[in-house]
Amino acid sequence: MNSVSPVPRTARAYPNIALIKYWGKRDELLHLPTTSSLSMTLDIFPTTTTVTVCDREFDEVILGDEPAPTDFAGKVSRFLDLVRDRAHDTRHAYVHTCNTVPLGAGLASSAAGFAALTVAATAAYGLDLKEPALTRLARRGSGSASRSICGGFAQWHRGEGDGTAGDESSFAETLDATRLNVALVVAVVSAREKPISSRAAMRRTMETSPFYLPWVKSSAEDLYRMRKAIYAGDLPVVGEVAERNALGMHATMLGARPAVRYFAPGSMQVLDRVLGLRDEGVPAYATMDAGPNVKVLCDRSDSSRVAADLAEIVGTEQVLVAHPGPAATLETA
Ligand code: PMV
Repeated sequence: MNSVSPVPRTARAYPNIALIKYWGKRDELLHLPTTSSLSMTLDIFPTTTTVTVCDREFDEVILGDEPAPTDFAGKVSRFLDLVRDRAHDTRHAYVHTCNTVPLGAGLASSAAGFAALTVAATAAYGLDLKEPALTRLARRGSGSASRSICGGFAQWHRGEGDGTAGDESSFAETLDATRLNVALVVAVVSAREKPISSRAAMRRTMETSPFYLPWVKSSAEDLYRMRKAIYAGDLPVVGEVAERNALGMHATMLGARPAVRYFAPGSMQVLDRVLGLRDEGVPAYATMDAGPNVKVLCDRSDSSRVAADLAEIVGTEQVLVAHPGPAATLETA
């Protein structure tokens, strides 16, 4: 056991939305992905988490104002075991986490949640990890959390090999996107709970969809084009590649047996409007995750127009506008 004093450490992290998707793991325990992915960290709805190491018999996890549900607390505790293992410290912790994503906004809170927990917990247990190591650790909580450690645009490398080699080479890093001036408009079309978790849907897609391997292959090409376009500040290419990568991911799911379908009628209406906007000369491009809500990438100067158009659609319940946001940060002790 080491002699870290029980100082509360607090960190804040933001959700991210993938423009090149992560869909499928080659190692479920280490969360090693099949493909590399690329995302934009948002500037809305942070998660703030405080971790205090203390002498108690078990971890206590508070979510908002209440004790966290058992499955949530279990995930946090299993993640803390990884941190304790690295810190050679067996003590438990008091964890308080506050999530600001409105219920049903369709922005997964797990990425921001595990990124904030990674930064707060490593500091609380006295570990001094640099960004690549933090992204690798966050990955173990939830794959997409690795990207929320980074601000702005980030690539999560699939890494090479299995076991330790895979674990060491699968990390996220920030990309230079200074030439891109974008907004992401989130159209919430349904706040219903998803019919199947992304974890189960990924596994079923990998095991049964004849379209999965072709998507994996095309995703590597998409990533190559996307990186060049981000660096060049070429929104139409970034948007087109993002849209086809996401629709391709959903096509792999539709090919699964039985099919995994996250589209709702409202999703189709938003996708139609995005095509309409492009016909009207507004560069706007859609992406969707493991749920029916649609996120629309556009130039920052077009975001009010895009948001107003999407708000008019009958199936849209809520429209939010986000921009590239900050990296996960530790509050000074
Ligand atoms: O990190 P998870 O297990 O929540 O999976 C995220 C999967 C997608 O959101 C659909 C795609 C992505 O890259 O974020």
